[in-house]
Amino acid sequence: MTKQRVGVLISGRGSNMKSLIAAAQAADYPAEIAVVISNVPGAGGLAIAAEAGVRALVIDSKSFGKGADGKRKFESALTAELKAARVDLVCLAGFMRLLSADFVNDWSGRLVNIHPSLLPAFKGLDVHAEMLRAGVKIAGCTVHYVSAEMDAGPIIGQAAVPVHSGDTPETLAARILDEEHKLYPECVRRIADGEVRLRDGIAVLSGAPASGALANPVRSPR
Ligand code: GAR
Repeated sequence: MTKQRVGVLISGRGSNMKSLIAAAQAADYPAEIAVVISNVPGAGGLAIAAEAGVRALVIDSKSFGKGADGKRKFESALTAELKAARVDLVCLAGFMRLLSADFVNDWSGRLVNIHPSLLPAFKGLDVHAEMLRAGVKIAGCTVHYVSAEMDAGPIIGQAAVPVHSGDTPETLAARILDEEHKLYPECVRRIADGEVRLRDGIAVLSGAPASGALANPVRSPR
């Protein structure tokens, strides 16, 4: 089996990256983590990746200067490393830099993100507090292809969790994060297995979800 080569981009603690690395350790998983890149020096995820024997490096986004020129230079450094690692798929995992339309276009159909809400609702930052303020009763997470607009693009998979009365942003975030850690590896598996096709701007899935995914019917992308 030729495994798809995945590059994971992080900015922080890297728990989603960790779940991808763990899934990729299974012999029958169709993808391998070729490289982890953090745009933030000292991000917690870097040590986790290195400990797991995955190549981990820093491309400090701040070191390229501000403005469009700095962003362009940062993104070409990113692309150079991803290409050097012969990456087929780029997974954003808590990567907190907005990418330019050029970068998104260059990696079109090969760039995915995880976001802690049921998109297209609750884009952006502080979504857990916003969901509680809005009084939603169901929350969740989404894995999607990335388009130039923030937290947007064809939806590959979603998982739902209940919102409990008495939830704080922290308790809700923890409940959603547990689902993120299952959803992301499952979606990457399905992409790598060729079960996800883009048709008219929508991700269409074939094949069956892994048996564990059935525990949450909303995590069974159809
Ligand atoms: C995750 O909850 C992820 O969904 C979110 O950041 C967190 C990163 O945690 N991403 C976004 O909000 C993207 N808009 P992690 O570093 O432990 O994976």
